[in-house]
Amino acid sequence: MKTSSIAYSLVAATLASAQRPTNTSICDYYTTALLKDNNAANQQTLLTLLVNTAVIGNYTQPNVGIAVPGILANGTGDFQGVSLIQYFDGMLLSTNDNGMPASVNFLDGGGAAPLMMNMPANNTSSAQYTLLTHLYEYFAYLTGCTIYGNTVHPYDGDTNMYEVHKYMNIDENEFKYFITQVGLSAASFGVAAADVNAIGMALNNAFGYKCSAPASIPASAAPAPQAICIADDCPLAPNATCSDYAPAMEPATATMISTMTATMAPVMNGTTYGNMTSTPRPTMSGTMVPYPGPIVNGTMSGSMMSAPAPVMTGTMAPPPAPIMTGPMMGNASMTASSTPASYTGAAGSVSPAIFAVGAIAAGVFAAVL
Ligand SMILES: *[C@@H]1O[C@H](CO)[C@@H](O)[C@H](O)[C@H]1NC(C)=O
Ligand SMILES: *[C@@H]1O[C@H](CO)[C@@H](O)[C@H](O)[C@H]1NC(C)=O
Ligand SMILES: *[C@@H]1O[C@H](CO)[C@@H](O)[C@H](O)[C@H]1NC(C)=O
Ligand SMILES: *[C@@H]1O[C@H](CO)[C@@H](O)[C@H](O)[C@H]1NC(C)=O
Ligand SMILES: *[C@@H]1O[C@H](CO)[C@@H](O)[C@H](O)[C@H]1NC(C)=O
Ligand SMILES: *[C@@H]1O[C@H](CO)[C@@H](O)[C@H](O)[C@H]1NC(C)=O
Ligand SMILES: *[C@@H]1O[C@H](CO)[C@@H](O)[C@H](O)[C@H]1NC(C)=O
Ligand SMILES: *[C@@H]1O[C@H](CO)[C@@H](O)[C@H](O)[C@H]1NC(C)=O
Ligand SMILES: *[C@@H]1O[C@H](CO)[C@@H](O)[C@H](O)[C@H]1NC(C)=O
Ligand SMILES: *[C@@H]1O[C@H](CO)[C@@H](O)[C@H](O)[C@H]1NC(C)=O
Repeated sequence: MKTSSIAYSLVAATLASAQRPTNTSICDYYTTALLKDNNAANQQTLLTLLVNTAVIGNYTQPNVGIAVPGILANGTGDFQGVSLIQYFDGMLLSTNDNGMPASVNFLDGGGAAPLMMNMPANNTSSAQYTLLTHLYEYFAYLTGCTIYGNTVHPYDGDTNMYEVHKYMNIDENEFKYFITQVGLSAASFGVAAADVNAIGMALNNAFGYKCSAPASIPASAAPAPQAICIADDCPLAPNATCSDYAPAMEPATATMISTMTATMAPVMNGTTYGNMTSTPRPTMSGTMVPYPGPIVNGTMSGSMMSAPAPVMTGTMAPPPAPIMTGPMMGNASMTASSTPASYTGAAGSVSPAIFAVGAIAAGVFAAVL
């Protein structure tokens, strides 16, 4: 595993005992402590380290001996059963795409690999790039950076965190797991316990209470509902304004796997060898009419896999199940679906998550679009 070569100006361990002056923000203080010069580039590096580590787990040397599993990693112990990766890999229809729940793969910019090189993504056109850079800017604001995220690269994403997360139905355990990874990430760089707690409290107060009254984050933004923890078990805000929130609903599984319909010819006849792979996530909009269903005739061998489910908007009519004649051998599999919430005709299992993050003890963040 390649580790990052960020030059620290101070031994991180000495930081934990240092006291941050009350007139210096967490961002400015630790930028100076870890990277020496308090400028926009170093503040951005600090935020990149903080966010990337929270997302994929600790990857830098040195750290102060605190392991960070990362948001992409499934929870253990108290967080057993928490699996936040499904909100990032397109597994669920949990992204708010213009008011519609959609499946979006936020790991389309190389997954963990570029993050381990202190980059947001391998590709500036990816959803991953947008998400990660928004997280850097948003957390720059939350941690009080005076330059980066303030005058340089101010956050330009959605300032209504409820709208961004409303289709995820985040419960208390999921939310606490997220905060815990952010806290562990900060602690792994030697951020003092009091400052780690301050970050955790700020996140909890801003986003951790269902029905919380509209607030301005950043302060320059219009007041908007901000609750991310909106499931039934989340604590109710002291001044709850539930009328600002729609009833929370569990996201559906994205099972509209594009294996056959996306790139395959409608009729395949004869023998197909080798592997077939669809292109990543076609985006479709408008009205879809029923597709007559692939007709596969003959013998297939090899494997087929699809990239994470396509993003669809508009209305869909169900396609019929595929018609298959002839034997299927090897790893050949077909999936088709009637609605995004169900599928039929699977002759074998096809994993929508083909991205390389699984191999890494990794974590990712809330989907700040
Ligand atoms: C914080 O206060 C100290 C002592 O009062 C002062 O020397 C320092 O310049 C202040 N820092 C900022 C960023 O205002
Ligand atoms: C993460 O941190 C733990 C604790 O310091 C360390 O044992 C582990 O090697 C680190 N992992 C990586 C990939 O740096
Ligand atoms: C994470 O948890 C989910 C849901 O319980 C499960 O489907 C998935 O296989 C787990 N992933 C890993 C890498 O253990
Ligand atoms: C970025 O990573 C994705 C996988 O997430 C890969 O498909 C793509 O080719 C990579 N792009 C570049 C420019 O390396
Ligand atoms: C970057 O990602 C976008 C979205 O996944 C994709 O359309 C584009 O082809 C990618 N570009 C490169 C150079 O990989
Ligand atoms: C609740 O609302 C009242 C009246 O608007 C206000 O005085 C009070 O400070 C609020 N409490 C909290 C915890 O926001
Ligand atoms: C499939 O192949 C068989 C035999 O090769 C042929 O009789 C049949 O017409 C073909 N079907 C189609 C749809 O091409
Ligand atoms: C099909 O995929 C398997 C496993 O991913 C690989 O070993 C094999 O070389 C591939 N075959 C072809 C024809 O691409
Ligand atoms: C499948 O192939 C057989 C011969 O191999 C042919 O009789 C039959 O019509 C084909 N079915 C379709 C749907 O093409
Ligand atoms: C088919 O799947 C088996 C078990 O998953 C695997 O060992 C084999 O390499 C696969 N073959 C191909 C062609 O992908």
